Amino acid sequence: MSASRISPLRVAVLASGRGSNLQAVIDAIEAKQVQATIVAVISNKKNAVALERARKYAIKDIFVDPKPFAGQPDSREAYDRALLALLQELDAELVLLAGYMKIVTGVLVNAYANRMMNIHPSLLPSFPGLDVQKKAIEWGCKLAGCTVHFVTEGVDEGPIIVQAAVPILDHDTPDSLAARILEQEHKIYPRAVQLFAEGRLRVDGRRVFIDQAVPVGEAVISPS
Ligand code: GAR
Repeated sequence: MSASRISPLRVAVLASGRGSNLQAVIDAIEAKQVQATIVAVISNKKNAVALERARKYAIKDIFVDPKPFAGQPDSREAYDRALLALLQELDAELVLLAGYMKIVTGVLVNAYANRMMNIHPSLLPSFPGLDVQKKAIEWGCKLAGCTVHFVTEGVDEGPIIVQAAVPILDHDTPDSLAARILEQEHKIYPRAVQLFAEGRLRVDGRRVFIDQAVPVGEAVISPS
């Protein structure tokens, strides 16, 4: 059930690109719509705009270079072991993948089971992977959208937390559709983080149930 936290939820963000979803979460925290603190933004890309955004807000920015791990037989797992050590050092309670374009392995997924979220610009389970707006248009879909889900080892899989749908219009291009979807991404990712912070997400198999909020000051009387 929803329990008021004494300290804000400690969130780490993994991002590879422009970081507009990171920005949406930062904005929601600043606006006090999300009770969380971002303990670090971590990237596999040295010049990720997401890292610049972190610096602007005095959030710790960390680049973890994949190159030194490349020669190892289990290079992806070795990289994730390094990330996991960092996340544990930072005491991160929730990890957000926000345009993190690297497949995460069981090393991270298992350590952060039901505590790692991803956002994806399609109505999963339709269109996992890349170029999903183009695919939705080509399929003649009438609706597209975005999904926040817990991360499992399958790419863009995992129990669905929140989705938002947008129409696909006759004149849409992949870019115009992506822009319409992105507006919704910026709403649902902070919402999912706040639901997590309030302890309201309950995972049961593939399904995520959202518990009702307990109004502040209302006593919870449990049957004896
Ligand atoms: C977002 O559209 C996000 O949904 C997508 O990458 C973009 C990152 O944008 N993620 C995926 O496709 C994951 N499979 P951002 O860097 O501006 O947040």
